[in-house]
Amino acid sequence: MNKISIIGAGMTGSTTAHWLAERELADLVLVDVVEGMPQGKALDMFEAMPIIGKDVEIVGANDYAATKGSDIIIITAGLPRKPGMSRDDLLSANAEIVGKAATETLAHSPDAIYIVLTNPLDTMAYLTMKRTGLPRQRVVGQAGILDSARMRAFVAMETGVSVENIDCYVLGGHGDEMVPLTRHSNIAGIPLKEYLPADRLDAIVTRTRKGGGEIVNLLKTGSAFYAPSVACAQMAEAILKDKHLIVPCAAYMQGEYGLNDMFFGVPVMLGRNGVERILEYRLDADEQAMFDASAAAVKETHEALKKLVTL
Ligand code: APR
Repeated sequence: MNKISIIGAGMTGSTTAHWLAERELADLVLVDVVEGMPQGKALDMFEAMPIIGKDVEIVGANDYAATKGSDIIIITAGLPRKPGMSRDDLLSANAEIVGKAATETLAHSPDAIYIVLTNPLDTMAYLTMKRTGLPRQRVVGQAGILDSARMRAFVAMETGVSVENIDCYVLGGHGDEMVPLTRHSNIAGIPLKEYLPADRLDAIVTRTRKGGGEIVNLLKTGSAFYAPSVACAQMAEAILKDKHLIVPCAAYMQGEYGLNDMFFGVPVMLGRNGVERILEYRLDADEQAMFDASAAAVKETHEALKKLVTL
């Protein structure tokens, strides 16, 4: 059986475990600093397995020894946003937590592939790669699947069409400057621009960009977790099943889209080796301008990280 360890057993971590357990993909380990909590959630979830008929082990722990031999490490540890906060406001607190989680897990699982979910996402993925020294194939950030799913959900609400018929592609950094590619997004092959009036499409793009904040403002005590965590589960499944699935994720740039030494949301192919390929769209001038603005915002957070910690 494969093994996935999830660091941080809070809302996103435990919900990721839930989605993964239902897929019967791997034995699961939940790690958190809060004593008893990961053990309690893991036991409760394991007690659900007889009902859904899935044979996976689920254990909780407060130390990293339990993660030994993991195929995938998912990092969700850290603080979530509260109303009025941007993802970048989380930088200093989460850098310390993620940096430690990355190095301590690597010592027990030298062959693991890392999926990073903690915000600010692109920069936490960058930190994980620099701290572990892993090749870029083995560190990937979750963001684009979520942002694209939000856009798909808003298009479904607007049109009444099945979510299954709606394909949207949201690239760029996981912040308000993200890049919804309306030209490539479609309903059953029909470009969104032809299906929807321009003002409705603009409203969907704006709502997508602010989609995380909308949930934070509603919840008031934390940020979204159902959609982010199922996005993580989809990535883990694509890796363990060697699916060669093309999905938007945060990957380390080495010249793609003219970007270097940074994580950025781009279409990647996920398989058993992690990020197997990065695909490049041909962007028009408007899309390139949005890409550049988003890349500049992500670069700024990377630079802020470099001032805070030694990489
Ligand atoms: N090691 C392990 N777990 C830790 C550590 C640490 N050093 N520090 C904090 N944690 C745990 C907390 O105890 C908490 O249980 O991380 C968990 C985070 O859970 P939540 O507070 O519920 O936050 P969540 O909604 O899961 O978001 C976590 O993911 O989507 C991002 O923006 C979000 O950065 C945030 C992260």
